[in-house]
Amino acid sequence: MKTQLIKVDNNNIDVKKINSAAKILRDGGTVAFPTETVYGLGANIFNESAVKRIFEAKGRPSDNPLIVHISKVDQMKSIVKNINKKTLTIMENFWPGPLTLILYKNSQIPDIITAGLDTVAVRYPSHPVAKKLIEYANIPVAAPSANISGKPSPTKAKHVIDDLMGKVDVIVDGGNCEVGLESTVLDMTSDTPIILRPGGITYEQIVQKIGRVEIAGGDNEDINFTPKAPGMKYKHYAPDAKLTVVEGDFNDVITKINELTKKELESGKKVAVMCLEEAKDMIEADRIYVLGNNKSLNLAAFNLFSYLRKFDEDKIDTVFVQAVDKAGIGMALRNRIDKAAAYNIISV
Ligand code: TXA
Ligand code: MG
Repeated sequence: MKTQLIKVDNNNIDVKKINSAAKILRDGGTVAFPTETVYGLGANIFNESAVKRIFEAKGRPSDNPLIVHISKVDQMKSIVKNINKKTLTIMENFWPGPLTLILYKNSQIPDIITAGLDTVAVRYPSHPVAKKLIEYANIPVAAPSANISGKPSPTKAKHVIDDLMGKVDVIVDGGNCEVGLESTVLDMTSDTPIILRPGGITYEQIVQKIGRVEIAGGDNEDINFTPKAPGMKYKHYAPDAKLTVVEGDFNDVITKINELTKKELESGKKVAVMCLEEAKDMIEADRIYVLGNNKSLNLAAFNLFSYLRKFDEDKIDTVFVQAVDKAGIGMALRNRIDKAAAYNIISV
């Protein structure tokens, strides 16, 4: 398949370009596009063969449901059953933005989108290109992250090109994704809403608006555990390199990382350390990837998926990772890092 590459300037969007991509999307094509979180691979939710091609291009298991993306709140009427007060508060405060809501689905939502569940995931992205594209396509757009299943989500057009060139109809290049981690998935179908996947909107931000919120647990390697977000059970974000997360007090973590690095180097491995700015000068390693700094983990969130891909490009065997605090965006960051490490975590 020939993939058309369309480059757009986010600050000065060429309407003609977006319109041509929107037409392909509406008419049953697959279009990768930037959002504020990560790139998505879109298809018209009402075109079953287009939606199937998303699953094929990604190598995604069919029991993993897709997020429906909208460009105006009005579209909710045709997608979900009813919207309660808490949900409205969430929508008013965090949409458009990096938050996905799980709600009971309207009967016209095809089963292929929801993997047969009676709920549907909906998101209203804030990225100007995503907004315009969905608006011009004039349909709700199903879009998982635009990566091969199991790989880190794409935060740059290059990541999408590496994974999906020749497998999709269009790739819209809108530069880098600002947030760098996927949206928060918030289940609004139980009395106390549940965060199924931490993401761009933090636990603290949500609690501040609607009070008590639970965080889905059991997101671990227990094979008998059936997570509420089906996607959480699959291997994720995994580079070829073996990642080990080291958590604990700052100085103990540094000591442990240096000790482990030395041992691995002696065995002839290509070793790297991924840490925060504050730790950099104390780390004894040839290859140090500075993720961000403790004052603002937003930069770390922005960098993480790029680095996970870079480890493979740089042919690294082993990476020791300084754990970040789980507060704020740190919760989503740790969730992705721990998964990338297949929960290989050392506490010191
Ligand atoms: O930031 C994002 O959310 C990006 C951009 C492109 O919008 N999309 C994204 O989609 O990350 P995806 O497919 O990679 O992840 C969607 C997650 C999966 O874990 C999936 O299982 C879960 O949402 N999900 C979708 N529908 C669901 C439902 N009805 N109930 C529970 N979980 C659901
Ligand atoms: Mg994904």
